[in-house]
Amino acid sequence: MAIRHLISWKDWSDSEIESLLDFAIYVKKHRVFFAGHMQGRSLAMLFQKTSTRTRVSFEAGMTELGGHAIFLDWIASNFQLSDIDFEAEYLSRNVSILMARLKKHEDLLTLLKGSKVPLINGCDNLYHPCQSLADILTIYLDIDKKPKDIKIVYIGVHNNVANSLVEITAALGIHLTLVTPIAKKDSISEQAIERAKKKKTISWENELLPAIKDADYIYTDTWVDMEFFNDPNYSGEKAARIETMMPFQINMELLKHTKAKVMHDMPIHSGYEITREVVESGRSIIFSQAENRLDAQKAIILELLEKSESD
Ligand code: CP
Repeated sequence: MAIRHLISWKDWSDSEIESLLDFAIYVKKHRVFFAGHMQGRSLAMLFQKTSTRTRVSFEAGMTELGGHAIFLDWIASNFQLSDIDFEAEYLSRNVSILMARLKKHEDLLTLLKGSKVPLINGCDNLYHPCQSLADILTIYLDIDKKPKDIKIVYIGVHNNVANSLVEITAALGIHLTLVTPIAKKDSISEQAIERAKKKKTISWENELLPAIKDADYIYTDTWVDMEFFNDPNYSGEKAARIETMMPFQINMELLKHTKAKVMHDMPIHSGYEITREVVESGRSIIFSQAENRLDAQKAIILELLEKSESD
């Protein structure tokens, strides 16, 4: 039996991603219909990093589907002192599906090696596919335009969220402009960029105003990864990033130059990548975007189990 996973969008065809999005819309509109679909099943959620939305939406999603979610803290579990693949193989014998938020993509691939049930990437250093599904779900529910006519501008540090956005927009034919003054080689997924280049869905812009002029959505994210935000050893890099990125802050002055709506995957660092006024303004669809994580996770869980069991 072939088991279906969601590690990044790399292994998903354009049409499979389109179908999953259609399904996520269906799941959102028919919440009651799916109640009970996961009855008697468990999801193990392994976290090596902090989370609010990913944990809550997966756990609430499993509850709504009639199943159960088990929270595993890396430090409080034996993942911290054993072989990752052995621990994963054990989990596969007690639960139906796994979700993991690990620091390193390589460790997620080791987890994948041991897993005998579907594995979902809940965000690692390279990808955040669940976030990008919720992002596009939010856009599709918000706008009456064909994908090829939608323009998203990502303004920020090139990171895992950017990589997954590059991949999913390429698959769907949505245009994405990157304004990423900090784009370190080890944070960029070359396969994602290649997919977008082939589909002609990606462009880069150095200046903010030309980039945002005709945008439907402007999207930003933290300039400093969550695990480093309060780390004293990272304070020099954090200060340098803030200095480079401050001119690219999403604020009310910038919004005068565009009609675009504003997105952010959260958690928000007000006063850095975005101001509180923007988050609270009528332009922001940030809380709907976060809300839609729930429906996106439910669709992913249902789809992976259905695909894995029907193959
Ligand atoms: N966007 C996101 O993944 O949020 P959390 O880090 O709170 O899970």
